[in-house]
Amino acid sequence: MPLAPARSRRRISHVTSRLTTLALAAYVALGAASFPLRAAEFDLPKGPNRALVYAKCRTCHDLQYVVESKGLTADAWDGLLDDMEGFGVELTADERQKIHTYLSTYMGDKPAPAETVVTAQADTPVDGGAVFSENCTSCHQNDARGIEETFPPLAENRDLFLSDTFPAKVLLNGMSGTITVNGNSFEGEMPSFAHLSDAEIAAVINYLRSHFGNNAAAHPGISRITADTVAALRNQEMDPTQVLALRASLK
Ligand code: HEC
Ligand code: HEC
Repeated sequence: MPLAPARSRRRISHVTSRLTTLALAAYVALGAASFPLRAAEFDLPKGPNRALVYAKCRTCHDLQYVVESKGLTADAWDGLLDDMEGFGVELTADERQKIHTYLSTYMGDKPAPAETVVTAQADTPVDGGAVFSENCTSCHQNDARGIEETFPPLAENRDLFLSDTFPAKVLLNGMSGTITVNGNSFEGEMPSFAHLSDAEIAAVINYLRSHFGNNAAAHPGISRITADTVAALRNQEMDPTQVLALRASLK
């Protein structure tokens, strides 16, 4: 069966408010086709700073672009990061260097080294605030207030307390479809963060539930989530649209 041309399956999301004029022109030229694809289809090789690519490179398009560009030279990846910065990607010099090293090592023109799993020391407690700022702020913003119509706020968001496990299911599987938060509607795709560890997922949820105007004490029926619970939830794979349906059923 012939496959659809790759380019037609690419997806640029509605982040017009963050895009520079140049990116906006490219976005309009591409026709903004939207294809909800499972994030798992775009797994990147495991290696240091892979999470940074997941954190910074999915705000405008999914990782199909990156996967299809495997084999570029280090110089070509450098030029590509220039292009992305021109489109509005915000990277510190350190982040840019780490992403460049990851891409040229694991997605480059030379044979990649064996995949490396970077695991935190088991006895080091995970800092949920650090997980948030490294992985979530490119979309939900530093103040967790999101971006109108595109990225919902996590600040003052009662959905974090819809059930003990709802936020963990969002992180593990992603969520896709229109939602309303505090009377405002958002249309976008929350990508999966299943590449984070169980402890990181638990820590960021517990952190959000007690920061940015969210108050866990006001929701006594909702328990803190543990890494063990997250581990158990990994076996119950859901589709991003099923997570949306679950959200509606809990309202
Ligand atoms: C601010 C929005 C935005 C972000 C964030 C972003 N990109 Fe892009 N990217 C674009 C646009 C727009 C295009 C389409 C350009 C085109 O098709 O001409 C694109 C295209 C690409 C392509 C395909 C290029 C080609 O010619 O086929 C790759 C690879 C890519 N991006 C990698 C990345 C990486 C790596 C990151 C993270 C550092 C990233 N992008 C983050 C806007 C963005
Ligand atoms: C690439 C952009 C992006 C990143 C990065 C991102 N999110 Fe999201 N997130 C979204 C979008 C878009 C939605 C809304 C999805 C929808 O409309 O169905 C969302 C929804 C959510 C929701 C559900 C909110 C509700 O009211 O139901 C939670 C919880 C959430 N994100 C947590 C996080 C956490 C925690 C992180 C970091 C680990 C994160 N997100 C990173 C884009 C992102």
